[in-house]
Amino acid sequence: MNSISSPVITETSTFAIDVEEGLSKYPKQLSSKYFYDAAGDQLFQDIMAMPEYYLTNCEYDIFTQQKAAILEAFGEAPFELIELGAGDGTKTKILLDYFLQQEADFTYRPIDISGNVLTQLTAACAEQFPKLKVDPVKGDYTEALAQIKQEDNHRRKVVLFLGGNIGNFPLPNAKVFIKELAICLSAGDLLLTGFDLKKDPKIVQLAYDDPAGITAAFNLNLLTRINKELGGAFDVDKFMHWETYNPLSGEARSYIVSKEEQLVQIEQLQLSVHFEAWEAIAVEVSAKYSERDIIELAEETGFTVNQNFVDPKAYFMDSLWELKV
Ligand code: AVJ
Repeated sequence: MNSISSPVITETSTFAIDVEEGLSKYPKQLSSKYFYDAAGDQLFQDIMAMPEYYLTNCEYDIFTQQKAAILEAFGEAPFELIELGAGDGTKTKILLDYFLQQEADFTYRPIDISGNVLTQLTAACAEQFPKLKVDPVKGDYTEALAQIKQEDNHRRKVVLFLGGNIGNFPLPNAKVFIKELAICLSAGDLLLTGFDLKKDPKIVQLAYDDPAGITAAFNLNLLTRINKELGGAFDVDKFMHWETYNPLSGEARSYIVSKEEQLVQIEQLQLSVHFEAWEAIAVEVSAKYSERDIIELAEETGFTVNQNFVDPKAYFMDSLWELKV
């Protein structure tokens, strides 16, 4: 308990392989899962605190106002509370606090790709909730789920996938991922997923392209991370952040665009990457859903929708699903 298990392949080597692959293909691509080094974690904290980024506050409101209904919907029997991409756990702590007050019988198993974040979260839980059983798992979702499946202890599982993290999968990939998740669960297990809802495109656009440039800094930090960890020579000023929201697909997408033709060396990869002027790197998808999209996704992946929890502005939905037999 309380020891953080590392995956077989180290974070850095996976990072190196993915960067090499992503920057060698056309169009170029880098995964947003690599945003979260120490600087990226801090920038994401700043994003969550900005007025334009409504997602965090909406889910916070849902939990604050509906925690009793949520616990009731989770049921009486003991459970493992598995959180995918736990982050700093600010919102989850509202639930943890309430669940402990109600003397619910559960173990909290936060999963995160950032060891930094996980260590802090575990320490914070120990301090704030001395009675809480915490058993963290470090890794990306697939690695962590594989581990949880392997150690299967026949406890009922309630999986939290909060904050709109599911949005980082383009829709078809979300379906594949939820199916993979379902394999790690048993009939009757629950999944509570936070979906950012389709809304006024202007509101979505601003959330990912804030005037203060915090989101731009967050995205471009990926280049700085390549510089730091892989000996890259990116001049960040020669790149810009670009965001599009497509109201039909519901996909907000961010790109890093090269402002000029340039050649960038990445020493540890023995790679020099050529950019045409205005060539783009695809970095992040943040998909938005309608209630209909959510119900369809549940049905296509073997779940039924038990209950939906929505904030007063109807910007965000935490949808509780149960795995069918
Ligand atoms: C942490 C994946 C939910 O997509 O909204 C915030 C990350 N990117 N601003 C999102 C993010 C740009 C965020 N998630």
